[in-house]
Amino acid sequence: MKLLVTGGAGYIGSVCTARLVEAGHHVTVLDDLSTGHRDAVHPDARFIEARVHDAADHVDGSYDAVLHFAAKSLVGESVEKPELYWENNVVGSLQLINAVTAAGVGTMIFSSTAATYGAPDRTLIDESCPTMPVNPYGMSKLAVDMMLTAQAQAHGLAAVSLRYFNVGGAYGVFGERHATETHLVPNLLKVATGERNEAAIFGNDYPTRDGTCVRDYLHVVDLSDAHGLALDAATPGMHQVINLGTGTGYTVNDVLDAVRRGTGHEVPARLAERRPGDPAVLVASNAKAKDRLGWAPTRGLDDIVTDAWQFAQR
Ligand code: UFG
Repeated sequence: MKLLVTGGAGYIGSVCTARLVEAGHHVTVLDDLSTGHRDAVHPDARFIEARVHDAADHVDGSYDAVLHFAAKSLVGESVEKPELYWENNVVGSLQLINAVTAAGVGTMIFSSTAATYGAPDRTLIDESCPTMPVNPYGMSKLAVDMMLTAQAQAHGLAAVSLRYFNVGGAYGVFGERHATETHLVPNLLKVATGERNEAAIFGNDYPTRDGTCVRDYLHVVDLSDAHGLALDAATPGMHQVINLGTGTGYTVNDVLDAVRRGTGHEVPARLAERRPGDPAVLVASNAKAKDRLGWAPTRGLDDIVTDAWQFAQR
């Protein structure tokens, strides 16, 4: 297929681009390099440096599908500077969707997030769970999900929103290198490499097994491969919303143990204040992904740590 990947110079977009190229697709990456890296784009992908806001200049009817990763994605930043999230994630996505409609591209796969659910009190979050985002990042992604529902109804778009839980790991030379790193696994690895002295554990008085927050950690390669399956499952006139997670939750302490095991380093950690806005438990039901996509995760927390550790040492 001929595919346009927005945000293909970023972490998840670059891994997805690599997997799609290796599966034989013809990929063009559109990225403004605001947070991505030019050398993270697979060498066999074509590259356009542009904002999604200017998608109309670059999208034409020769594409079979658009995969839309380009977004701002820091929860804390979204609370402090919400306007950045409306402008980039909402306005930018609308411009892209308009370009897709005008060009007659039939399929769109969108990077949505568990943050659209907010802080539900269910043990396993499925797609029928009410969407009540608690920060502008989650709100901006939910707004785009809603645009896609309407676009499928009005114009027959085949749309799939994939709601990611906690993504980690790397794929060879493609991995996570954010200027501002807020995520748990890369931050623990910065301590293992010696770049930082100690890790911070944000709160140990949550109502969980050991008091630290529980998350569902999914390997970025498993996540990427779900996008290839979503291209096959996309159906004209339908907007499908599908969670991507493993269905298993790990506490922050579990992840710390896994990093100590996987790196062989001590990784000193201190207890810190709770981080505002962190829900206690977020674990996905992936029954719909299994049913609709025929997808199942093949890698676990130890693989995430091992692959991210190899990447961090490069
Ligand atoms: N944490 C620490 N120390 C750190 C970093 C994180 O204790 O240095 C804790 C957090 O408090 C949280 C857990 O580790 O309990 C995971 O935190 P991350 O920042 O790695 O991930 P989040 O669960 O906050 O965020 C992820 C995605 C977001 C998405 C969100 C959905 O990265 O894009 O899930 O709720 F919005």
